Amino acid sequence: MKRLLLAFLIVACRRTEEPTPPPRQPPQVRDAAPVVVDAGKPSPYRTDKSGYHIDAALTGKGKTSLVAAEDHFAADAGEAILKAGGNAVDAAVTTAFVLAVTHPSAGNIAGGGFAVVRLGKNKFTAIDFRETAPGAATANMFLDAGGNPTKDSLIGDRAVGVPGSVEGLYELHKKYGKKKWAEVIAPAIQIATDGFKIDEHLHEGLERITHFRGEIKTAPLWWPNGVPAAVGTLAKNPELAATLKLIADKGPDGFYKGVTAQAIVDEMKKNGGIITAADLAGYKAVWRDPIHTEYRGKQLYTMPPPSSGGVVVALVANMLRGKDLGKMPWHGFDHVHNVVEVWRRGYAARNEVLGDPKYVKMPTQKLLSQDYADELAKTITDKATPSKDVPGLIDGKHTTNLVTVDGAGMAVAMTTTLNTSFGNAVMVNGFLLNNEMDDFTSKPGSPNVFGLVQGVANKIEPGKRMLSSMSPTVIEDEKGELYMVVGGQGGSHIITEVWQTISNVIDFGMPIDQAVAAPRFHHQHLPDEVLVDDDSISEDTAKQLQAAGYKLAIGKPEGVYGSVTAILRTSDGWAGSVDPRNGGAAIGD
Ligand code: DON
Repeated sequence: MKRLLLAFLIVACRRTEEPTPPPRQPPQVRDAAPVVVDAGKPSPYRTDKSGYHIDAALTGKGKTSLVAAEDHFAADAGEAILKAGGNAVDAAVTTAFVLAVTHPSAGNIAGGGFAVVRLGKNKFTAIDFRETAPGAATANMFLDAGGNPTKDSLIGDRAVGVPGSVEGLYELHKKYGKKKWAEVIAPAIQIATDGFKIDEHLHEGLERITHFRGEIKTAPLWWPNGVPAAVGTLAKNPELAATLKLIADKGPDGFYKGVTAQAIVDEMKKNGGIITAADLAGYKAVWRDPIHTEYRGKQLYTMPPPSSGGVVVALVANMLRGKDLGKMPWHGFDHVHNVVEVWRRGYAARNEVLGDPKYVKMPTQKLLSQDYADELAKTITDKATPSKDVPGLIDGKHTTNLVTVDGAGMAVAMTTTLNTSFGNAVMVNGFLLNNEMDDFTSKPGSPNVFGLVQGVANKIEPGKRMLSSMSPTVIEDEKGELYMVVGGQGGSHIITEVWQTISNVIDFGMPIDQAVAAPRFHHQHLPDEVLVDDDSISEDTAKQLQAAGYKLAIGKPEGVYGSVTAILRTSDGWAGSVDPRNGGAAIGD
């Protein structure tokens, strides 16, 4: 079941007194975004045997500002707010709310996420709006009588974590936004009211999850009579518009209290869920200090626990510091071997000891120390280390990323999710619920939907945040100037795809479109295999890797998945790129 689900995932988170110009008026009926690449079909770059296919339509340039997101309407609305005098935070919040309307597989108001924010030179912060386990959750709630994991962590209302997005976006905007709260939500309300045309990309996403859920009756907007809404259907969502209006008028109370909260609780009571009114009213986003690490002179700021992304990215950077990757042939044996071995060790640590810092004592300092990275790096030989032999620490689909930059150097990398595509596919008052409970360890040693084999540090406890792989990252250059903003979707693959995009730029000097589109490989400690994109490595390299003990899975449909959005500084401003694997738009000014 989990493999099947995974296959679906692959194919497939101050107001100003000055007068502001009226928001850009969108056309009454919106047509599908022009730039869409079919997930599920071979990505366009695979057709170019000589390298990677770059689609100019997926890249945008900006002299002062830029927004890149996995949906054209969302990127467009974010950039419009910037043009109307908003800053990078306003743009991120607007983009995120529009994603909740037009990109329902991952954009959300009932999911959660993380954002890393650059406030100015050497000044960074991060906000954690990850979902939490409901108060009545228990460690074994997803085990059957025989002690085996059930599908309830993914499907149905017990899969739902207490949503964090509305609180997170509100807090982020309250502290650092410039435009009025109602103004940043307005574009989402307008699109939900006027409607937008369902394109092929969205249609295929809806089709994909119908297969494993059987008949879907819970979200008639997206699956009328249980059938995916047709391409070209005008999707109007007045219920969501009304919910967003409540949030615009009352802030988080419009979601966590009153009729919206009541509707969530009613849905839970009706279908065996356990989220209560008190769980909703008690949800709080948390400000955190980003993890900071240096890599080849660049300063990386990324997400700390309860995301594992930052710790693994930093550990990987520390382990690779002594290896001159840029001098190795790109995707040749030395490159793949060194990177996989480092990931193997990084994910082993992730899976074993990381969790919500409020509940788990973690050896974070040790994990982030150069001494520890050096010690681990010394265990890398010229052969594959079997994952079972990786030294332990204790002795013993669907997410979306958006990136924004403004003219003042403020930048946001935000990843938000319902977990798998369309979350649990249950709709309440116009919005879909998440199925984030599957990110916890249902049973130590048993893989979750992303194949992650996790430990007790990430066991379910009431009020706890489930461990994540989301890795929004902002990078400054040697002079402290904003350099790169990056993040991605793809469950456990997020960390390796974000890492490869950063390394493609820093180690191999690729422009951002190539760095994002290039074929990738992936390894996460367990299972003990290396997933490799078609055309990602030569036959010779494959043979060398196999001879060194690697089990390779090349070009499997359920192989490497996930997509990245990123912005890079260029000589004349910004270049932003969205991934050919999932489409979207990068729009600058
Ligand atoms: O937080 C996490 O790590 C996962 N819930 C992310 C899910 C995801 O990226 C799905 N996309 N394919």
